[in-house]
Amino acid sequence: MQKTTRIGAFQPEFVGLDTCYRLADGRFTRRHYLDSAASTLALRGARQVADELLRHYANTHSQLHFSARIVSEAYGWAHARMLEFVSADPGCYTAFFAGSGCTAALNRLARALAASRPERDLALVSLMEHHANDLPHRKHAGQVLHVPLVGEAPELGRVDLAALERLLERHRGRVNCVAVSAASNVTGVINPVHDIAALAHAHDAWVVVDASQYLAHAPLAISDTGAVERALDAVVFSGHKLYAPGSPGVAVTRRALLENQEPDEVGGGMVDDVYLSGYRVTDRFPDREEAGTPNIIGAVQLGAVVKLLQRLGMKRVHAVEQRRLQRLLTGLSAVPGVRIYGDLDLERTPRVGTVAFNLAGLEHGLATAVLNDYHNVAVRNGCFCAHPYVRELLKPELWALDLDPDAADAASLLERRQGMVRASLGLYTTDDDIDALLAGVRDLLARPDYYRDLYEPDASANFQHRTFKIPVEALFDPEAELERIFDGQLRNEK
Ligand SMILES: Cc1ncc(COP(=O)(O)O)c(C=O)c1O
Repeated sequence: MQKTTRIGAFQPEFVGLDTCYRLADGRFTRRHYLDSAASTLALRGARQVADELLRHYANTHSQLHFSARIVSEAYGWAHARMLEFVSADPGCYTAFFAGSGCTAALNRLARALAASRPERDLALVSLMEHHANDLPHRKHAGQVLHVPLVGEAPELGRVDLAALERLLERHRGRVNCVAVSAASNVTGVINPVHDIAALAHAHDAWVVVDASQYLAHAPLAISDTGAVERALDAVVFSGHKLYAPGSPGVAVTRRALLENQEPDEVGGGMVDDVYLSGYRVTDRFPDREEAGTPNIIGAVQLGAVVKLLQRLGMKRVHAVEQRRLQRLLTGLSAVPGVRIYGDLDLERTPRVGTVAFNLAGLEHGLATAVLNDYHNVAVRNGCFCAHPYVRELLKPELWALDLDPDAADAASLLERRQGMVRASLGLYTTDDDIDALLAGVRDLLARPDYYRDLYEPDASANFQHRTFKIPVEALFDPEAELERIFDGQLRNEK
Protein backbone atom coordinates (compact mmCIF):
# COMPACT_ATOMS: atom_id res chain seq x y z
CA MET A 1 0.00 0.00 0.00
CA GLN A 2 1.28 3.47 -0.87
CA LYS A 3 2.06 5.58 2.19
CA THR A 4 0.05 8.81 2.41
CA THR A 5 2.27 11.85 2.63
CA ARG A 6 1.52 14.55 5.18
CA ILE A 7 1.01 17.87 3.42
CA GLY A 8 2.31 19.83 6.39
CA ALA A 9 5.67 18.13 6.02
CA PHE A 10 6.00 19.52 2.51
CA GLN A 11 4.92 23.06 3.19
CA PRO A 12 8.42 24.20 4.23
CA GLU A 13 10.02 22.46 1.22
CA PHE A 14 10.03 25.49 -1.09
CA VAL A 15 12.93 27.72 -1.99
CA GLY A 16 12.65 31.28 -0.69
CA LEU A 17 10.38 30.92 2.30
CA ASP A 18 13.02 32.36 4.59
CA THR A 19 13.97 35.31 2.36
CA CYS A 20 14.26 38.52 4.40
CA TYR A 21 14.37 42.16 3.33
CA ARG A 22 15.03 45.44 5.14
CA LEU A 23 11.89 47.55 5.05
CA ALA A 24 11.33 51.28 4.66
CA ASP A 25 11.09 51.67 8.45
CA GLY A 26 14.40 49.85 8.99
CA ARG A 27 12.98 46.56 10.21
CA PHE A 28 14.48 43.37 8.74
CA THR A 29 11.69 40.82 8.31
CA ARG A 30 10.69 37.69 6.46
CA ARG A 31 8.96 38.07 3.11
CA HIS A 32 5.31 37.03 2.97
CA TYR A 33 4.93 35.76 -0.57
CA LEU A 34 1.31 36.13 -1.65
CA ASP A 35 1.88 36.42 -5.39
CA SER A 36 1.60 32.76 -6.35
CA ALA A 37 -0.91 33.46 -9.13
CA ALA A 38 1.89 35.27 -10.97
CA SER A 39 4.52 32.62 -10.28
CA THR A 40 4.86 30.08 -7.53
CA LEU A 41 8.02 29.42 -5.55
CA ALA A 42 10.15 26.39 -6.47
CA LEU A 43 9.57 23.03 -4.85
CA ARG A 44 13.06 22.16 -3.65
CA GLY A 45 12.88 18.38 -4.13
CA ALA A 46 11.74 18.69 -7.73
CA ARG A 47 14.55 21.13 -8.46
CA GLN A 48 16.95 18.60 -6.93
CA VAL A 49 15.67 15.88 -9.25
CA ALA A 50 16.33 18.18 -12.23
CA ASP A 51 19.79 19.08 -10.90
CA GLU A 52 20.58 15.40 -10.55
CA LEU A 53 19.67 14.90 -14.20
CA LEU A 54 22.25 17.56 -15.07
CA ARG A 55 24.95 15.02 -14.23
CA HIS A 56 23.74 13.09 -17.27
CA TYR A 57 22.82 16.11 -19.34
CA ALA A 58 22.75 15.57 -23.07
CA ASN A 59 20.47 16.42 -25.97
CA THR A 60 17.35 14.31 -26.51
CA HIS A 61 18.08 14.37 -30.24
CA SER A 62 21.25 12.34 -29.67
CA GLN A 63 20.45 8.66 -29.46
CA LEU A 64 22.96 6.02 -28.60
CA HIS A 65 25.22 7.20 -25.82
CA PHE A 66 24.42 6.57 -22.17
CA SER A 67 23.48 10.12 -21.34
CA ALA A 68 21.28 10.62 -24.39
CA ARG A 69 19.35 7.49 -23.51
CA ILE A 70 18.91 8.53 -19.89
CA VAL A 71 17.83 12.04 -20.74
CA SER A 72 15.42 10.96 -23.49
CA GLU A 73 13.82 8.50 -21.12
CA ALA A 74 13.44 11.18 -18.44
CA TYR A 75 11.95 13.63 -20.93
CA GLY A 76 9.43 11.00 -22.05
CA TRP A 77 8.66 10.36 -18.38
CA ALA A 78 7.84 14.08 -17.98
CA HIS A 79 5.34 13.93 -20.87
CA ALA A 80 3.68 10.89 -19.34
CA ARG A 81 3.35 12.70 -15.99
CA MET A 82 1.49 15.59 -17.66
CA LEU A 83 -1.06 13.22 -19.18
CA GLU A 84 -1.43 11.32 -15.95
CA PHE A 85 -1.88 14.51 -13.89
CA VAL A 86 -5.13 15.28 -15.73
CA SER A 87 -6.11 11.63 -16.29
CA ALA A 88 -5.79 11.92 -20.08
CA ASP A 89 -5.79 8.73 -22.14
CA PRO A 90 -2.45 8.61 -24.04
CA GLY A 91 -4.29 6.85 -26.87
CA CYS A 92 -6.37 9.95 -27.66
CA TYR A 93 -4.35 12.74 -26.09
CA THR A 94 -0.82 14.03 -26.38
CA ALA A 95 1.12 16.32 -24.06
CA PHE A 96 3.58 18.77 -25.55
CA PHE A 97 5.82 21.39 -23.98
CA ALA A 98 6.03 24.86 -25.47
CA GLY A 99 7.58 28.21 -24.63
CA SER A 100 8.07 29.39 -21.08
CA GLY A 101 4.41 29.35 -20.07
CA CYS A 102 1.01 28.47 -21.43
CA THR A 103 0.88 31.47 -23.79
CA ALA A 104 2.85 29.62 -26.47
CA ALA A 105 0.57 26.58 -26.26
CA LEU A 106 -2.58 28.70 -26.38
CA ASN A 107 -1.33 30.49 -29.49
CA ARG A 108 -0.54 27.17 -31.10
CA LEU A 109 -3.99 25.79 -30.33
CA ALA A 110 -5.84 28.90 -31.51
CA ARG A 111 -3.99 28.79 -34.85
CA ALA A 112 -4.52 25.04 -35.22
CA LEU A 113 -8.22 25.23 -34.39
CA ALA A 114 -8.86 28.07 -36.81
CA ALA A 115 -6.93 26.29 -39.57
CA SER A 116 -8.69 22.97 -39.02
CA ARG A 117 -12.21 24.28 -39.68
CA PRO A 118 -12.04 27.63 -41.46
CA GLU A 119 -15.76 27.42 -42.20
CA ARG A 120 -16.37 27.71 -38.44
CA ASP A 121 -15.30 31.30 -37.99
CA LEU A 122 -16.41 32.03 -34.44
CA ALA A 123 -14.74 31.49 -31.06
CA LEU A 124 -16.64 32.01 -27.80
CA VAL A 125 -14.30 33.31 -25.11
CA SER A 126 -15.36 33.82 -21.51
CA LEU A 127 -15.31 37.36 -20.20
CA MET A 128 -12.96 36.40 -17.40
CA GLU A 129 -10.12 35.14 -19.62
CA HIS A 130 -6.53 36.16 -19.23
CA HIS A 131 -5.37 37.84 -22.46
CA ALA A 132 -3.45 34.64 -23.25
CA ASN A 133 -6.72 32.74 -23.82
CA ASP A 134 -8.43 35.64 -25.57
CA LEU A 135 -6.05 37.44 -27.92
CA PRO A 136 -4.83 34.32 -29.80
CA HIS A 137 -8.48 33.62 -30.73
CA ARG A 138 -9.01 37.25 -31.69
CA LYS A 139 -5.98 36.95 -33.94
CA HIS A 140 -6.80 33.61 -35.56
CA ALA A 141 -10.55 32.97 -35.35
CA GLY A 142 -12.64 35.04 -37.73
CA GLN A 143 -14.62 36.53 -34.86
CA VAL A 144 -14.65 36.34 -31.07
CA LEU A 145 -17.72 36.83 -28.90
CA HIS A 146 -17.33 37.10 -25.14
CA VAL A 147 -19.50 34.93 -22.92
CA PRO A 148 -20.95 36.85 -19.95
CA LEU A 149 -20.69 35.80 -16.32
CA VAL A 150 -23.47 35.27 -13.80
CA GLY A 151 -24.32 37.98 -11.27
CA GLU A 152 -23.70 41.70 -11.11
CA ALA A 153 -20.42 43.54 -10.65
CA PRO A 154 -18.62 43.58 -8.29
CA GLU A 155 -20.04 40.16 -7.31
CA LEU A 156 -19.64 38.47 -10.67
CA GLY A 157 -19.52 34.69 -10.60
CA ARG A 158 -18.65 31.98 -13.08
CA VAL A 159 -19.43 31.69 -16.77
CA ASP A 160 -23.15 31.99 -17.43
CA LEU A 161 -24.07 28.59 -18.85
CA ALA A 162 -27.48 29.71 -20.09
CA ALA A 163 -25.90 32.62 -21.95
CA LEU A 164 -23.28 30.28 -23.41
CA GLU A 165 -25.99 27.93 -24.62
CA ARG A 166 -27.89 30.81 -26.21
CA LEU A 167 -24.75 31.91 -28.06
CA LEU A 168 -24.11 28.36 -29.25
CA GLU A 169 -27.71 28.10 -30.47
CA ARG A 170 -27.77 31.50 -32.12
CA HIS A 171 -24.54 30.78 -33.99
CA ARG A 172 -25.20 27.10 -34.65
CA GLY A 173 -22.70 25.72 -37.15
CA ARG A 174 -20.31 28.68 -36.77
CA VAL A 175 -18.73 28.13 -33.36
CA ASN A 176 -15.36 26.43 -33.66
CA CYS A 177 -14.30 26.53 -30.02
CA VAL A 178 -15.16 27.71 -26.54
CA ALA A 179 -12.20 29.10 -24.60
CA VAL A 180 -12.51 29.21 -20.84
CA SER A 181 -10.29 29.21 -17.78
CA ALA A 182 -10.71 26.59 -15.09
CA ALA A 183 -10.15 29.33 -12.51
CA SER A 184 -9.77 33.08 -12.87
CA ASN A 185 -6.38 34.64 -12.30
CA VAL A 186 -8.15 37.69 -10.81
CA THR A 187 -10.83 36.37 -8.46
CA GLY A 188 -9.98 32.67 -8.30
CA VAL A 189 -13.57 31.91 -9.36
CA ILE A 190 -13.83 28.33 -10.65
CA ASN A 191 -15.72 27.53 -13.84
CA PRO A 192 -17.70 24.30 -14.39
CA VAL A 193 -15.48 23.30 -17.29
CA HIS A 194 -17.05 19.88 -17.84
CA ASP A 195 -20.56 21.35 -18.08
CA ILE A 196 -19.12 23.86 -20.55
CA ALA A 197 -17.54 21.01 -22.53
CA ALA A 198 -20.88 19.17 -22.67
CA LEU A 199 -22.60 22.28 -24.02
CA ALA A 200 -19.83 22.96 -26.53
CA HIS A 201 -19.79 19.37 -27.74
CA ALA A 202 -23.55 19.33 -28.22
CA HIS A 203 -22.85 22.04 -30.81
CA ASP A 204 -19.82 20.32 -32.25
CA ALA A 205 -17.45 22.95 -30.84
CA TRP A 206 -14.08 22.21 -29.22
CA VAL A 207 -13.33 23.37 -25.70
CA VAL A 208 -9.95 24.82 -24.74
CA VAL A 209 -9.36 25.09 -21.00
CA ASP A 210 -6.73 27.38 -19.55
CA ALA A 211 -5.96 25.59 -16.29
CA SER A 212 -2.89 27.61 -15.36
CA GLN A 213 -4.58 29.11 -12.29
CA TYR A 214 -6.23 25.88 -11.26
CA LEU A 215 -3.89 22.94 -11.33
CA ALA A 216 -1.76 23.99 -8.36
CA HIS A 217 -4.89 24.25 -6.27
CA ALA A 218 -7.39 21.51 -7.08
CA PRO A 219 -7.76 18.21 -8.96
CA LEU A 220 -8.76 18.25 -12.61
CA ALA A 221 -9.53 15.30 -14.85
CA ILE A 222 -10.05 15.50 -18.59
CA SER A 223 -13.53 14.08 -17.99
CA ASP A 224 -15.17 14.34 -14.57
CA THR A 225 -17.52 11.40 -15.10
CA GLY A 226 -15.65 9.50 -17.78
CA ALA A 227 -18.33 10.49 -20.33
CA VAL A 228 -16.72 11.49 -23.61
CA GLU A 229 -19.04 14.44 -24.16
CA ARG A 230 -17.77 15.97 -20.90
CA ALA A 231 -14.13 15.47 -21.79
CA LEU A 232 -12.05 18.62 -22.31
CA ASP A 233 -10.38 18.80 -25.71
CA ALA A 234 -7.33 20.74 -24.59
CA VAL A 235 -5.96 21.72 -21.20
CA VAL A 236 -3.03 24.13 -21.00
CA PHE A 237 -0.98 25.29 -18.06
CA SER A 238 2.30 26.93 -17.05
CA GLY A 239 4.96 25.10 -15.07
CA HIS A 240 6.12 28.30 -13.40
CA LYS A 241 2.69 28.51 -11.76
CA LEU A 242 3.04 24.92 -10.60
CA TYR A 243 6.10 25.12 -8.37
CA ALA A 244 8.60 24.66 -11.22
CA PRO A 245 10.10 28.01 -12.28
CA GLY A 246 12.16 27.63 -15.43
CA SER A 247 9.91 24.89 -16.78
CA PRO A 248 7.96 25.17 -20.04
CA GLY A 249 4.29 25.65 -20.81
CA VAL A 250 2.21 22.51 -21.30
CA ALA A 251 -0.64 21.50 -23.57
CA VAL A 252 -2.53 18.28 -23.04
CA THR A 253 -4.66 18.02 -26.12
CA ARG A 254 -6.60 15.61 -28.25
CA ARG A 255 -4.34 14.36 -31.00
CA ALA A 256 -7.23 14.90 -33.40
CA LEU A 257 -6.87 18.67 -32.94
CA LEU A 258 -3.37 18.66 -34.35
CA GLU A 259 -3.26 15.67 -36.67
CA ASN A 260 -3.09 16.40 -40.38
CA GLN A 261 -1.89 19.92 -39.74
CA GLU A 262 1.50 21.38 -40.42
CA PRO A 263 3.00 22.33 -37.03
CA ASP A 264 3.65 26.06 -36.61
CA GLU A 265 7.28 25.61 -35.77
CA VAL A 266 9.54 23.64 -38.04
CA GLY A 267 13.14 22.56 -37.59
CA GLY A 268 15.04 19.69 -36.04
CA GLY A 269 13.33 16.78 -34.33
CA MET A 270 9.89 17.07 -35.95
CA VAL A 271 10.59 15.56 -39.36
CA ASP A 272 11.12 12.02 -40.60
CA ASP A 273 13.20 13.23 -43.51
CA VAL A 274 14.26 16.34 -45.36
CA TYR A 275 15.20 16.63 -49.04
CA LEU A 276 16.29 19.63 -51.01
CA SER A 277 12.88 19.60 -52.57
CA GLY A 278 10.84 19.30 -49.37
CA TYR A 279 10.40 17.61 -45.99
CA ARG A 280 8.19 15.03 -44.34
CA VAL A 281 6.77 15.92 -40.94
CA THR A 282 6.73 12.96 -38.55
CA ASP A 283 3.41 11.51 -37.42
CA ARG A 284 4.84 11.00 -33.95
CA PHE A 285 3.43 12.99 -31.06
CA PRO A 286 4.69 14.98 -29.26
CA ASP A 287 7.79 15.21 -31.47
CA ARG A 288 5.98 16.93 -34.32
CA GLU A 289 4.91 19.74 -31.98
CA GLU A 290 8.32 20.26 -30.40
CA ALA A 291 10.74 21.52 -33.02
CA GLY A 292 14.26 22.19 -31.74
CA THR A 293 15.99 21.19 -28.53
CA PRO A 294 13.44 21.20 -25.72
CA ASN A 295 13.68 22.52 -22.18
CA ILE A 296 14.49 19.06 -20.84
CA ILE A 297 15.57 20.04 -17.36
CA GLY A 298 12.53 22.25 -16.79
CA ALA A 299 10.18 19.57 -18.06
CA VAL A 300 11.64 16.93 -15.75
CA GLN A 301 11.47 19.35 -12.83
CA LEU A 302 7.79 19.88 -13.60
CA GLY A 303 7.25 16.14 -13.94
CA ALA A 304 8.69 15.70 -10.45
CA VAL A 305 6.39 18.39 -9.02
CA VAL A 306 3.35 16.78 -10.57
CA LYS A 307 4.34 13.37 -9.27
CA LEU A 308 4.68 14.76 -5.77
CA LEU A 309 1.36 16.60 -5.94
CA GLN A 310 -0.32 13.36 -6.96
CA ARG A 311 1.26 11.64 -3.98
CA LEU A 312 -0.03 14.38 -1.70
CA GLY A 313 -3.42 14.11 -3.37
CA MET A 314 -4.87 17.18 -5.03
CA LYS A 315 -8.11 16.82 -3.06
CA ARG A 316 -6.13 17.21 0.15
CA VAL A 317 -4.09 20.08 -1.29
CA HIS A 318 -7.38 21.77 -2.17
CA ALA A 319 -8.86 21.21 1.28
CA VAL A 320 -5.80 22.70 3.02
CA GLU A 321 -5.88 25.74 0.75
CA GLN A 322 -9.61 26.25 1.23
CA ARG A 323 -9.06 26.65 4.98
CA ARG A 324 -6.47 29.36 4.33
CA LEU A 325 -8.69 31.01 1.74
CA GLN A 326 -11.52 31.10 4.25
CA ARG A 327 -9.20 32.77 6.79
CA LEU A 328 -8.21 35.37 4.21
CA LEU A 329 -11.76 36.10 3.06
CA THR A 330 -13.13 36.24 6.60
CA GLY A 331 -10.27 38.48 7.70
CA LEU A 332 -10.62 40.87 4.77
CA SER A 333 -14.42 40.99 5.04
CA ALA A 334 -14.12 41.99 8.68
CA VAL A 335 -12.15 45.15 7.87
CA PRO A 336 -14.39 48.12 7.05
CA GLY A 337 -13.29 49.73 3.79
CA VAL A 338 -12.23 46.54 2.01
CA ARG A 339 -14.06 45.61 -1.18
CA ILE A 340 -13.52 42.05 -2.40
CA TYR A 341 -14.33 41.26 -6.03
CA GLY A 342 -16.32 38.31 -7.30
CA ASP A 343 -19.19 36.44 -5.69
CA LEU A 344 -18.32 35.72 -2.06
CA ASP A 345 -20.71 32.83 -1.62
CA LEU A 346 -18.28 29.92 -1.85
CA GLU A 347 -21.08 27.36 -2.01
CA ARG A 348 -22.52 29.00 -5.08
CA THR A 349 -19.23 30.15 -6.55
CA PRO A 350 -16.24 28.07 -5.51
CA ARG A 351 -12.81 29.67 -5.76
CA VAL A 352 -9.19 28.73 -5.60
CA GLY A 353 -6.93 30.71 -3.27
CA THR A 354 -6.80 33.95 -5.23
CA VAL A 355 -8.49 37.11 -3.97
CA ALA A 356 -8.66 40.56 -5.58
CA PHE A 357 -9.66 43.57 -3.50
CA ASN A 358 -9.40 47.32 -3.10
CA LEU A 359 -9.19 49.57 -0.07
CA ALA A 360 -11.53 52.54 0.19
CA GLY A 361 -9.85 55.77 -0.87
CA LEU A 362 -6.51 54.13 -1.66
CA GLU A 363 -5.24 53.44 -5.15
CA HIS A 364 -4.24 49.84 -5.79
CA GLY A 365 -0.69 50.98 -6.64
CA LEU A 366 -0.31 52.84 -3.36
CA ALA A 367 -1.74 50.00 -1.26
CA THR A 368 0.52 47.44 -2.92
CA ALA A 369 3.65 49.55 -2.48
CA VAL A 370 2.93 50.11 1.22
CA LEU A 371 2.16 46.44 1.80
CA ASN A 372 5.58 45.65 0.38
CA ASP A 373 7.66 48.51 1.81
CA TYR A 374 6.23 48.50 5.36
CA HIS A 375 4.87 44.97 5.82
CA ASN A 376 7.00 42.77 3.54
CA VAL A 377 3.88 41.40 1.92
CA ALA A 378 4.38 40.63 -1.78
CA VAL A 379 1.11 41.05 -3.69
CA ARG A 380 0.35 42.11 -7.24
CA ASN A 381 -1.70 45.05 -8.45
CA GLY A 382 -3.18 46.27 -11.72
CA CYS A 383 -5.46 44.51 -14.16
CA PHE A 384 -3.55 41.19 -14.24
CA CYS A 385 -3.68 40.84 -18.04
CA ALA A 386 -7.43 40.41 -17.81
CA HIS A 387 -8.44 43.99 -18.59
CA PRO A 388 -12.01 43.39 -19.82
CA TYR A 389 -12.83 41.31 -16.73
CA VAL A 390 -11.28 43.76 -14.28
CA ARG A 391 -13.06 46.69 -15.94
CA GLU A 392 -16.35 44.79 -15.70
CA LEU A 393 -15.80 44.06 -12.00
CA LEU A 394 -14.93 47.72 -11.39
CA LYS A 395 -17.73 49.18 -13.47
CA PRO A 396 -19.88 50.47 -10.59
CA GLU A 397 -16.87 52.12 -8.94
CA LEU A 398 -15.51 53.67 -12.11
CA TRP A 399 -18.92 55.09 -12.96
CA ALA A 400 -19.28 56.44 -9.43
CA LEU A 401 -16.06 58.41 -9.94
CA ASP A 402 -18.04 60.52 -12.40
CA LEU A 403 -14.87 61.75 -14.05
CA ASP A 404 -15.04 64.67 -16.40
CA PRO A 405 -13.59 63.13 -19.59
CA ASP A 406 -12.36 66.58 -20.70
CA ALA A 407 -10.41 67.23 -17.49
CA ALA A 408 -6.64 67.28 -18.05
CA ASP A 409 -5.90 64.58 -15.46
CA ALA A 410 -8.93 62.35 -16.21
CA ALA A 411 -6.93 59.66 -18.02
CA SER A 412 -4.26 59.29 -15.34
CA LEU A 413 -6.85 59.38 -12.55
CA LEU A 414 -8.79 56.63 -14.27
CA GLU A 415 -5.67 54.57 -14.79
CA ARG A 416 -4.73 54.83 -11.13
CA ARG A 417 -8.20 53.66 -10.12
CA GLN A 418 -8.50 50.97 -12.77
CA GLY A 419 -7.00 48.00 -11.01
CA MET A 420 -6.99 45.96 -7.86
CA VAL A 421 -4.70 44.35 -5.33
CA ARG A 422 -4.42 40.57 -5.64
CA ALA A 423 -3.32 38.14 -2.94
CA SER A 424 -2.80 34.58 -4.07
CA LEU A 425 -1.94 31.47 -2.11
CA GLY A 426 0.30 28.49 -2.66
CA LEU A 427 0.95 25.22 -0.89
CA TYR A 428 3.51 27.02 1.28
CA THR A 429 1.22 29.86 2.44
CA THR A 430 0.86 29.96 6.22
CA ASP A 431 -1.66 31.59 8.52
CA ASP A 432 1.17 33.92 9.47
CA ASP A 433 1.40 35.15 5.85
CA ILE A 434 -2.31 35.82 5.75
CA ASP A 435 -2.26 37.58 9.10
CA ALA A 436 0.62 39.78 7.89
CA LEU A 437 -1.49 40.88 4.93
CA LEU A 438 -4.50 41.54 7.15
CA ALA A 439 -2.36 43.59 9.55
CA GLY A 440 -1.01 45.58 6.61
CA VAL A 441 -4.50 46.26 5.28
CA ARG A 442 -5.70 47.43 8.70
CA ASP A 443 -2.65 49.67 9.08
CA LEU A 444 -3.19 51.22 5.62
CA LEU A 445 -6.82 51.97 6.31
CA ALA A 446 -6.00 53.41 9.72
CA ARG A 447 -3.58 56.03 8.36
CA PRO A 448 -4.04 56.51 4.62
CA ASP A 449 -2.89 60.15 4.65
CA TYR A 450 0.33 59.29 6.43
CA TYR A 451 1.23 56.84 3.67
CA ARG A 452 -0.04 59.03 0.84
CA ASP A 453 2.43 61.76 1.87
CA LEU A 454 5.31 59.28 1.68
CA TYR A 455 4.66 58.31 -1.95
CA GLU A 456 4.25 59.87 -5.36
CA PRO A 457 2.49 58.41 -8.38
CA ASP A 458 4.61 57.46 -11.36
CA ALA A 459 3.76 57.41 -15.06
CA SER A 460 2.51 53.82 -14.95
CA ALA A 461 -0.17 54.27 -12.29
CA ASN A 462 2.11 52.88 -9.60
CA PHE A 463 3.48 54.67 -6.57
CA GLN A 464 7.10 55.22 -5.61
CA HIS A 465 8.34 55.97 -2.11
CA ARG A 466 9.84 59.47 -1.97
CA THR A 467 12.94 58.41 -0.04
CA PHE A 468 13.09 54.62 0.26
CA LYS A 469 14.47 52.79 -2.77
CA ILE A 470 14.69 49.02 -3.04
CA PRO A 471 18.46 48.32 -3.26
CA VAL A 472 18.03 45.69 -5.96
CA GLU A 473 21.71 45.26 -6.86
CA ALA A 474 22.77 44.92 -3.26
CA LEU A 475 20.16 42.22 -2.78
CA PHE A 476 21.06 40.20 -5.84
CA ASP A 477 23.89 40.81 -8.26
CA PRO A 478 24.63 37.93 -10.65
CA GLU A 479 28.28 38.92 -10.90
CA ALA A 480 28.69 39.14 -7.14
CA GLU A 481 27.13 35.67 -6.93
CA LEU A 482 29.69 34.38 -9.40
CA GLU A 483 32.49 35.88 -7.30
CA ARG A 484 31.08 34.31 -4.19
CA ILE A 485 30.68 30.91 -5.80
CA PHE A 486 34.15 30.90 -7.29
CA ASP A 487 35.58 32.36 -4.11
CA GLY A 488 37.48 35.25 -5.65
CA GLN A 489 39.10 33.16 -8.36
CA LEU A 490 37.49 35.26 -11.06
CA ARG A 491 39.23 38.38 -9.77
CA ASN A 492 42.60 36.59 -9.70
CA GLU A 493 42.15 35.54 -13.31
CA LYS A 494 41.80 39.15 -14.48
C1 LIG B 1 -5.16 32.35 -16.33
C2 LIG B 1 -3.86 32.62 -17.00
N1 LIG B 1 -3.71 32.25 -18.27
C3 LIG B 1 -2.56 32.44 -18.93
C4 LIG B 1 -1.49 33.06 -18.34
C5 LIG B 1 -0.24 33.26 -19.11
O1 LIG B 1 0.71 32.42 -18.61
P1 LIG B 1 2.25 32.51 -19.06
O2 LIG B 1 2.67 33.91 -18.82
O3 LIG B 1 2.89 31.53 -18.16
O4 LIG B 1 2.32 32.11 -20.48
C6 LIG B 1 -1.61 33.48 -17.02
C7 LIG B 1 -0.47 34.17 -16.37
O5 LIG B 1 -0.62 34.93 -15.47
C8 LIG B 1 -2.82 33.26 -16.34
O6 LIG B 1 -2.98 33.64 -15.07
